[in-house]
Amino acid sequence: MSHQSELIARDIDAYLSSQETKGMLRFITCGSVDDGKSTLIGRLLWDSRMIFEDHLSTLSADSRRVGTQGDEIDYALLMDGLQAEREQGITIDVAYRFFSTDRRKFIVADTPGHEQYTRNMVTGASTADVALILVDARKGILTQTRRHSYLVSLVGIRRVVLAVNKMDLVGYAPERFDAIRGDYLQFAAGLGFEQITCIPLSALKGDNLIKRSDNTPWYAGPPLMDFLEDVKIDATDSDRPFRMPVQLVNRPAPDFRGYAGTIVSGSIRPGDEVVSCDSGRSSRIERIVTMSGDLPEARAGQSVTVTLADEIDISRGDLLAPPKTRPVHADRFEAHLVWMHDEPLLPGKSYLLKTGCSTVPAHVTDLQCTIDVNSLQRQPGSVLALNGIGICTISLDRPISFDPYRENRATGSFILIDRFTNATVGAGMIDGALRRADNIHWQAIAIDKRARAAIKGQKPCLLWFTGLSGAGKTTIANMVEKRLHSLGKHTYILDGDNVRHGLNRDLGFTDADRVENIRRVAEAAKLFVDAGLIVLASFISPFKRDREMARSLLGEGEFVEIFVNTPLEICEKRDVKGLYKKARAGMLPNFTGIDSAYEPPEHPEIEINGGTDTPEELAERIVRYLID
Ligand code: ADX
Repeated sequence: MSHQSELIARDIDAYLSSQETKGMLRFITCGSVDDGKSTLIGRLLWDSRMIFEDHLSTLSADSRRVGTQGDEIDYALLMDGLQAEREQGITIDVAYRFFSTDRRKFIVADTPGHEQYTRNMVTGASTADVALILVDARKGILTQTRRHSYLVSLVGIRRVVLAVNKMDLVGYAPERFDAIRGDYLQFAAGLGFEQITCIPLSALKGDNLIKRSDNTPWYAGPPLMDFLEDVKIDATDSDRPFRMPVQLVNRPAPDFRGYAGTIVSGSIRPGDEVVSCDSGRSSRIERIVTMSGDLPEARAGQSVTVTLADEIDISRGDLLAPPKTRPVHADRFEAHLVWMHDEPLLPGKSYLLKTGCSTVPAHVTDLQCTIDVNSLQRQPGSVLALNGIGICTISLDRPISFDPYRENRATGSFILIDRFTNATVGAGMIDGALRRADNIHWQAIAIDKRARAAIKGQKPCLLWFTGLSGAGKTTIANMVEKRLHSLGKHTYILDGDNVRHGLNRDLGFTDADRVENIRRVAEAAKLFVDAGLIVLASFISPFKRDREMARSLLGEGEFVEIFVNTPLEICEKRDVKGLYKKARAGMLPNFTGIDSAYEPPEHPEIEINGGTDTPEELAERIVRYLID
């Protein structure tokens, strides 16, 4: 190595202590070979002088032999370290590189851009603080840019840099950069990133990499290296609630019982109260024992043995946590699952699920949907193939302790293992627990739906209005209800905006929340139909699967799906609540039709175009359908 190596040679202690006190940023790079990713990382390593001398001499020889830059150094060869990569010209696994500057240490995970390597990317990203997403200025945002961004958001990275590379090839045109930036911000609005920084670059020429480039006087932001040195590192694992999976119960002598493990988050001191999450019993930390003596405090990352003030029953696989911020303890949860094996996931088959130190027999009871990582669309699916991502329900043979992944990556992730081959077949991120309906039984009720309907002189049913925000669902449903009321019918309206003020006050607009929104509404509607009413439900209900679920709750002919098919342009032009404007401005994420999908019904009972006919005409058509 160059300047760093001088210090190492001269004063190794000074070097080590300077390294120890520096902050560490982990980042992942995403992009394809063609985007210039390897060149970019090679250049960062080169300019920070973290290249070994022997590595350098091979590099210049290789550059002349196989490089693509004539006599100049091909920085890409620094990254494409694996033989196979050199030959194929692609990166096939996660490569970790270390470098440091005067201000920070860095670990870069370089992952392949190809779709079939999703699993590598998820692996590389799972510990990163920041994602560096590369695009070629000539090509702009591609499907793979969207895919990488989704995966990065899936594994919980909240800060991204969009590196618009090869600006030299578009004449450093600010319009080109602005267009790409605009496209990206619009797309990424739904992914929940906290910070998106776009930088115009040329990795090959070095523009805006280490120093601000004279070729982009219109760009006021930081060069990439400054960004990496300054970007905020989110709450470290030490700032989260204390979690320590017990790896070993240590009883070297009758009067000593210690629990050994690695603290995965938070910190502890003697005197702190902890619970065994399996039994719920609590005690206090007495000592924190290590090979080199007792500690006054221990933090995330440290391996320790703790002793407790009381004898409580704790065994391997248990989790220690503070009583006030304890994890979830459950035997059923919902998770995002990434499939990593050639043999697809078989719902119902028994696997072993491993988190922290516990391994429990588990099976996937329900694959709710798969996610097309290119379009971000959810699709109903019964299999999950290699590199596929799905949302599923997992049932365990006994409860375990965990946190939702978004709150704690260490206690919210798991792997699935094949029971016979011992191969790791899937990796998952827990969304949250599901409660089992244990000890709840059906009660027989004497008066039934028919009796209730008969006294009202009507045939109960559920009219389900679906369509974009602003399509006219509520207006039309209101008119239909008025007409029915005047005909002496007993009705009830459930409306998206209204229900979200009460019953569903706790729900937002993420995909998971929308699914739950529709589930509750469908269950409530079912009760009203059971009460003998004609129910009108008006919800965007963007996912086909959820509407099918609602249909399945009702009897034959009771569910009438009404697709209010008003074109997006018209809804957006009307923009009654001003929400489209906000969504376009990036101020309202996950907005249906803008950055969240709407799946139109294929065979609705009634389809109306809310853009052409008046609401009165449309309402009349629906009433006529009901009378018929
Ligand atoms: S649904 O997708 O879960 O079925 P729902 O019909 O309950 O949606 O609520 C939609 C209403 O919430 C819209 O008419 C709009 O007024 C408001 N809203 C607020 N944020 C969003 C958003 N991100 N996407 C869609 N609608 C939103």
